[in-house]
Amino acid sequence: MSNNAAEVAKRRTFAIISHPDAGKTTITERLLLMGQAINVAGTVKARKSDRHATSDFMAMEKQRGISVSTSVMQFPYRDCMINLLDTPGHEDFSEDTYRTLTAVDSALMVLDGGKGVEPRTIALMDVCRLRDTPIVSFVNKLDRDIRDPIELLDEIEAVLNIKAAPITWPIGCYRDFKGVYHLEQDLIIVYATGHGHERTESRIIRHLDSDEARAHLDDLYDDFVEQLELVQGACHEFDREAFLRGEMTPVFFGTALGNFGVDQVLDAIVDWAPAPLPRPANERTVEPTEEPFTGFVFKIQANMDPKHRDRIAFMRICSGQYERGMKLHHVRTGKELRIPEALTFFAAEREHLEEAWAGDIIGLHNHGTIQIGDTFTQGESIGFTGIPHFAPELFRRVRLKDPLKSKQLRQGLQELAEEGATQVFFPERSNEIILGAVGVLQFDVVASRLKEEYKVECLYEPVNVWSARWVDSSNKKKLEEFTHKAMENLAIDGGGHLTYLAPTRVNLSLTEERWPDIRFLATREHH
Ligand code: G4P
Repeated sequence: MSNNAAEVAKRRTFAIISHPDAGKTTITERLLLMGQAINVAGTVKARKSDRHATSDFMAMEKQRGISVSTSVMQFPYRDCMINLLDTPGHEDFSEDTYRTLTAVDSALMVLDGGKGVEPRTIALMDVCRLRDTPIVSFVNKLDRDIRDPIELLDEIEAVLNIKAAPITWPIGCYRDFKGVYHLEQDLIIVYATGHGHERTESRIIRHLDSDEARAHLDDLYDDFVEQLELVQGACHEFDREAFLRGEMTPVFFGTALGNFGVDQVLDAIVDWAPAPLPRPANERTVEPTEEPFTGFVFKIQANMDPKHRDRIAFMRICSGQYERGMKLHHVRTGKELRIPEALTFFAAEREHLEEAWAGDIIGLHNHGTIQIGDTFTQGESIGFTGIPHFAPELFRRVRLKDPLKSKQLRQGLQELAEEGATQVFFPERSNEIILGAVGVLQFDVVASRLKEEYKVECLYEPVNVWSARWVDSSNKKKLEEFTHKAMENLAIDGGGHLTYLAPTRVNLSLTEERWPDIRFLATREHH
């Protein structure tokens, strides 16, 4: 195996998908503990603030230097290098989440055992399905009362439309939680309380049909054996190929808080989840083991260090090797960019990085030239596909409190739009600025960041826009005619793309009917 192929084979890049409160933060922390990236659990938890109230979120935004280290975490485990990508928990930030999921090769779905499949789990699974991302499942909170595990599996299959193959099966729950039984290996992994914050070796009991197992299960034994027969008869056996096709999920049980079962999940990711996969570009598919470097930007985060206004573009490497100081070709602008120092997020710290491979995420300093969706190569002109931009559903007109600050406002909004914090539209017919968002919380965040970072105070006003569509056509003449006729409703977005701002649903469908040669796109690829 070439060096390149060996490095690629070692990589696992995944994200956690879950409904808020299912335990994503807790499990992230346990994973870092296992990768020895942190010594004491509690580090990530203390940083968590992206849930619940707006005020929490704002506080986090102000502490960018802290929160960023949880966006991308790299740590070694067994003979692999794991890249764990965080997705914002709040549903108003789903666009960012969608794009982060385009940068992973697999996902870990965490369910609260007491609640089962929740709305956000469904939404995130839908996103994963767009790329048939393989999913490992973890049913959490077995130290509490959970729902009947058979029912939970049925729910995964019925609601999420994916086959569920239990790898372990829980023995009791809440006060009676005694561990899990490994269905294939015929062994019991014993749960012991009080080890939530440290790495411990679990006690193993070999064979369910043993005196030790009988003694451990005690009066649960007979019922458990009976239930197991049912499970073994009714459930799917794990089939790795089906898992890799995104059709089947292996299911594990445990408690993140009790640090139990998380190691099995990480082992499953190392053993079964795919190493970096080939990536489709418009022109061809790029293999991760190809020598020349390629990568795409899926996220831009600004002002992570409040002291300097430094904006970081997060790039997923798709092939080749990054070496410090290398020159990259920025496909969209056609310019060469020297990358003197990329960042990695090893061990929860920002560190300067010497080299990185396909599957790894690197952070590039960005001075406004890099946009989400940009492809970087060593000269080849290709564009990676599948990094979507969604038409916003909520709109506001922006008004300045101090009219003299309009330059700062434009610059601020342009930069926040590049980062994906909001979408900005400049109508063709007026000097207005219209903001678009997928979730209403985005507007508050933008106003607060404009004030903090750009010293601009703004107000929002309602605006008569129902939805936005990116406009495109292969028929130049028709496009010109349309641009002329529909000027009233046209705007240019932050990326320079022509957009139709429809005042009503009816208006949009009538316009679509009237202009069959024009395409009205609800999603746009970033290039
Ligand atoms: P999230 O990132 O998915 O939103 O979830 P998070 O890890 O923050 O967990 C949500 C709540 O569930 C937390 O409690 C956390 O301690 C708890 N939790 C996570 N895993 C388990 C588990 O295995 N068993 C039990 N019993 N609880 C678990 P909280 O009260 O909201 O926060 P805190 O006061 O504990 O910090």
